Amino acid sequence: MRRLKSIHGEWSSRGAFFLAATGAVVGLGNIWKYPYIAGQNGGGAFLLLYLLCLLLVGMPLRMAELLLGRRGRGSPPTAFHELAVDEGRWRAWAAVGVFAVVASLLILSFYSVIAGWGLDYMWMSAVGSYRGQSESAIQGVFSALNDEPWRLLMWHTLFMGMTTAVVSRGVQRGLERVARVFVPVLFILLAVLGLYAAVEGNIVKAVHYLFTPDFAALNGKVVLIALGHAFFTLSLGMGTMMAYGAYLPEDVSILRVSVWIVLADTLAALLSGIAIYPLVFAGNLPAMQGPGLIFTVLPTAYGHAKYGDAFGALFYMALVLAAWTSAIALLEPGVAWLVERGMARAKAAMVLGSVVWFLGLMTILSFNIWSGVLILGHSWFGLLDMLTGNLMLPVIGLLIVVFVGWMVAERSLRQELQFRRGVFRIWLSVLRYVTPVAMLLVLLNALGLIRGAYDGSKPISAG
Ligand code: TRP
Repeated sequence: MRRLKSIHGEWSSRGAFFLAATGAVVGLGNIWKYPYIAGQNGGGAFLLLYLLCLLLVGMPLRMAELLLGRRGRGSPPTAFHELAVDEGRWRAWAAVGVFAVVASLLILSFYSVIAGWGLDYMWMSAVGSYRGQSESAIQGVFSALNDEPWRLLMWHTLFMGMTTAVVSRGVQRGLERVARVFVPVLFILLAVLGLYAAVEGNIVKAVHYLFTPDFAALNGKVVLIALGHAFFTLSLGMGTMMAYGAYLPEDVSILRVSVWIVLADTLAALLSGIAIYPLVFAGNLPAMQGPGLIFTVLPTAYGHAKYGDAFGALFYMALVLAAWTSAIALLEPGVAWLVERGMARAKAAMVLGSVVWFLGLMTILSFNIWSGVLILGHSWFGLLDMLTGNLMLPVIGLLIVVFVGWMVAERSLRQELQFRRGVFRIWLSVLRYVTPVAMLLVLLNALGLIRGAYDGSKPISAG
């Protein structure tokens, strides 16, 4: 088979790829979603179930995406096209790649607005605005923020600017440089915040909440939650890992690096739980779910803790860093695609950055001026969130699995993965038979076709 080369360059080492990919997977989902779903659904028992989902479904799919990207050596549409040609399949498979790029950009348009909340909170914590405030006062601060389109716009513009600037500098000078510095910083911050919370807060109660296994809490619904979160937290089903895989040097073992990324992602989620709950319980505050946990309960807790202003600001800094390295990963596939079609990288980043910025305006307005405007019963923000997270991601993920599992010749797969024979057979069987069923379940659940598991009141499944 012909060996393709990436026109965007490659990661300079395995470590650089590991840090960039970890930056892409550790995001808002780790910082506030994992802690509350684990606490509510059986603690340690949920953790075991979730690890099983990561192992059985998350890992095989993540390896499939990396493999597809490394073999196709390009953005998702290009990689699909090249592989379809090589494997003698229908070229229309490239449409899956296009679909993935569109989904990433749509997600970025509201991810950036949420990251903007984080920037605002970082600033407000640092200047001591939450000191001694009651929970209901901070609830008021949160809704006041969302009533101010100009303030949201300012943060959204800043965040998109930071993201676009990095992507426009390319793989080694942009993506990789940021990841090398800020991914370690993020982990150090989370560790420091965890330590601080353990000392200042009620660590016993937090550990009990997060880790005591309650096997009675497990049921079909919890399995679906764990599965859905496993896909989301590993940034699967969107072609991101294809784009990052396209820059992966030939001699890096996809299996080994995938294991490390999954471990780092889980570590981030656990550290974040340790940073949040001891403070929440020490303040006798509700362990609630959704944006309220991070944007009303937690600022209240920091506002009553010793040195809480400084540590609160650090917490929101961690949130923004996690969102930033994910946002870069959301923009990169689209930019790479335009570059492959002949546009200069800086221009491509500007063009797509502006498109996303503009789409973000709709999210901002849907919180205030347009809050009465409903499309199919949802605000613009709710609609985007549902469309991308619940529909596009599982569908794209399913198509990726079908393509790798059934359309690509086994010989090609084996050449790319270099697994030992037994390992390869296990991987392929799981990818062919287990992963698609799991994806289908997540999809049916998201569409509400499996009753009871989708919490429609939850405003942000993407966070
Ligand atoms: N994994 C990210 C999180 O935990 C969210 C996410 C999903 C993502 N898909 C992505 C981030 C694609 C970057 C690229 O928050």
